[in-house]
Amino acid sequence: MESEAVEKRLEVAEAVAREAGQLALGYFRRRADLAVGRKGLQDVVSEADGAVERLIRERLAERFPGDGFLGEETGASEGVGDGPVWVVDPIDGTQCFLAGIPSWCVSIGLAAGGRCRLGVIYDPCFDEIFVGGDGRSTTCNGVLVSPIDAASLEDGMIEVGFSHRVKGDWTAEVVRRVLSSGGMYHRGGTGALALAYVAAGRYIAYYEEHMNAWDSVAGIGLIEAAGGWAHDVLADDGLRRGAVVAACGARFAPTLRALVDLG
Ligand code: IPD
Repeated sequence: MESEAVEKRLEVAEAVAREAGQLALGYFRRRADLAVGRKGLQDVVSEADGAVERLIRERLAERFPGDGFLGEETGASEGVGDGPVWVVDPIDGTQCFLAGIPSWCVSIGLAAGGRCRLGVIYDPCFDEIFVGGDGRSTTCNGVLVSPIDAASLEDGMIEVGFSHRVKGDWTAEVVRRVLSSGGMYHRGGTGALALAYVAAGRYIAYYEEHMNAWDSVAGIGLIEAAGGWAHDVLADDGLRRGAVVAACGARFAPTLRALVDLG
């Protein structure tokens, strides 16, 4: 996929993320009235997630009818393969969203040819938008950003994500290793936004044992466009099955890989 095609999609994705974010913010302000369901242990969903995803899916299909789509709420379009696929989480951090915690975002990524090509992550509560992709370095509200040039875990915080899709033992071991190496961990409840924070030099790194593609593709697009490193989340059918997510600045990559036994 040419950078021109990525650039065209970035412009549209930014406008769509802003529109979707405003819709989501409206729901956030009246969250007590929303119909809420449960997808699993500590895994909730509300009518807002579906409505915001439908808006994003419609807008992208109007502009790029030939592109595939994979969303957390509405699933995959026919023939999702090597061509461009939009990978979308309309509200990442749903548990925080429903609890009234301003730690959630709209996440729009694009995968093509086995790579994360672009990311747009919008945090409507703080009106921050992270945008980047092939041929365009990552920005936050229009200002260029880059990962921390960390040499060790002592240089800042690492976000360690967790969901009950996996057992907790390995994550607890990773947290133990972080602390015993003089590091500090954090869990903000929105993995997508945490990846944007890695791209923007707020966290040293992100690690999670299993994340779905809609939570990771946009953030990894941002990190790579900012010159950082990310474990390949699209290998081994990662688009459908999800993957280990590990990402950080380029210098810190060997330390992160060793910390989480990534070989
Ligand atoms: C979750 C969040 C969380 C991460 C989980 C995700 P959701 O997404 O990104 O931070 O640890 O793996 O499932 O359910 O809020 O869209």
